[in-house]
Amino acid sequence: MTTPVLSVQELSKVYGEGDAQVRALRGVSLTVERGDYVAIMGASGSGKSTLMNILGCLDVPSSGRYLIDGADVGALEERQLAVLRNRKIGFVFQSFNLIPRMSALANVELPMAYGGVGAAERRARALAALEQVGLSDRVRHEPNELSGGQQQRVAVARALVTAPSLLLADEPTGNLDTASTGDVLEILDRLSASGRTIVIITHEDDVAAHAKRVIRLVDGQIVEDRRQAPVDGPPPRMPEVPA
Ligand SMILES: Nc1ncnc2c1ncn2[C@@H]1O[C@H](COP(=O)(O)OP(=O)(O)O)[C@@H](O)[C@H]1O
Ligand SMILES: [Mg+2]
Repeated sequence: MTTPVLSVQELSKVYGEGDAQVRALRGVSLTVERGDYVAIMGASGSGKSTLMNILGCLDVPSSGRYLIDGADVGALEERQLAVLRNRKIGFVFQSFNLIPRMSALANVELPMAYGGVGAAERRARALAALEQVGLSDRVRHEPNELSGGQQQRVAVARALVTAPSLLLADEPTGNLDTASTGDVLEILDRLSASGRTIVIITHEDDVAAHAKRVIRLVDGQIVEDRRQAPVDGPPPRMPEVPA
């Protein structure tokens, strides 16, 4: 049996103290195997972002266990955690989170600056990742010179360029119009078809329809975890970013 990309056991997260205490996650257990495409759904306040922040090692749970590629995240020191986050996880956020006044290319190169990759290889891999998201003709543009959909595609390229074990996206189409949403979802479909592991957080049924598996959160607990046939069948294959 292969090691799951991620496994969480009995995660809980409590914010605040006393009367102000909020139990944002209450005993969440979840395993995601390599190549899966999971949509985590739930109403506003159900704990989606809290779960994403923990899965992305941006926050720590109040209790419970979290393994990434078999490594116990809770046992790591801050510095080791930063390395793991950089190597294993690619993030895509609702608000793109690109660095202003830096070209698309420079934004995509950035995660590799911490990874000991040489300048020429950084450039080549960033260009390949931008090509994968259809932005070869926009590599010198800065974020404010790009549409929202294009900015999010740059963010996807940035997330991919380190060849992470897991692509983690929190409402990646939340700020996009219908056409741009379609572009980003198509890219995720192709990445999934090429074997990427994707966890996407969304409250939209149309977005979740692209995933292979849907998990529903209510009040910090998983109430549903089901497999589904993704929409439109398997999309065309996409070349991998060189590892
Ligand atoms: N930093 C925080 N401090 C206190 N409460 C928080 C914090 N972040 C989230 N919460 C609360 O935790 C619950 C889950 O929030 P969140 O994970 O953001 O849900 P979702 O992303 O599904 O909207 C909500 O009740 C929210 O108000
Ligand atoms: Mg949220």
